[in-house]
Amino acid sequence: MYDYKANIENSRYDYNRNILLESHAANNPFDQFALWLKEAEEDGIKDYNAFTLSTIGPDGFPNSRRLLLRKCDRSGFTFFTNYTSAKGNQLAFNDKVCLNFYWNTLERQIRVYGIAKKVSEQESDEYFAPRPRESQIAAWASIQSAEMRSREELEENVTKYTNEFAGKPVPRPPHWGGYQVVPHYFEFWQGRPSRLHDRLIYKVDADFEWYIQRIAP
Ligand SMILES: Cc1cc2nc3c(=O)[nH]c(=O)nc-3n(C[C@H](O)[C@H](O)[C@H](O)COP(=O)(O)O)c2cc1C
Repeated sequence: MYDYKANIENSRYDYNRNILLESHAANNPFDQFALWLKEAEEDGIKDYNAFTLSTIGPDGFPNSRRLLLRKCDRSGFTFFTNYTSAKGNQLAFNDKVCLNFYWNTLERQIRVYGIAKKVSEQESDEYFAPRPRESQIAAWASIQSAEMRSREELEENVTKYTNEFAGKPVPRPPHWGGYQVVPHYFEFWQGRPSRLHDRLIYKVDADFEWYIQRIAP
């Protein structure tokens, strides 16, 4: 299926597009994140704002899925989803999460640890209101992560809610909204030749100031 031989061919590929040194890293990880996100957008990466969110459920297993980042500022990272989904249930059980951004062409990865909390109902309403109508109907029609009888069940739900909300604005479903992740640890990984990559981490000291450390590749 996939073996060491194919793997060795792939391993010949070296990373050489960029470097990351303490001397030019931003003092604070939010500025460094904003710069790398902007450069990913400028590089033409589709879904440059996508990341992997890892959560832990009551069974103790980590669980990961891709999501789209909708907002990031110094207070945290915001995404939107269904509160009754698998991730929603896992977050209700354990609010500790890991976010992972990876931009293949830039040879960059960012890892973030933080605590997830629901955003206000008002913020979720404001984000939901201007979304495309089809997406709004989908938020009602899909009980995300729940078992379904068939594809037809989903399509019947779409018809049901399309009729129910005909001629009026689609309200935000109570089970749909945002989470904000408040980070306390970042790692910026920049691929370098010969597997001698740059890895800078940002942690918070006792005065709640960010400081940088280098870790081995
Ligand atoms: C690129 C990409 C972006 C996605 N963005 C979102 C998103 O912003 N919100 C969301 O609920 N699901 C998003 N999904 C779907 C999730 O990966 C996942 O299938 C869904 O949220 C259900 O996950 P769960 O069962 O672990 O709760 C996205 C998938 C991909 C591949």
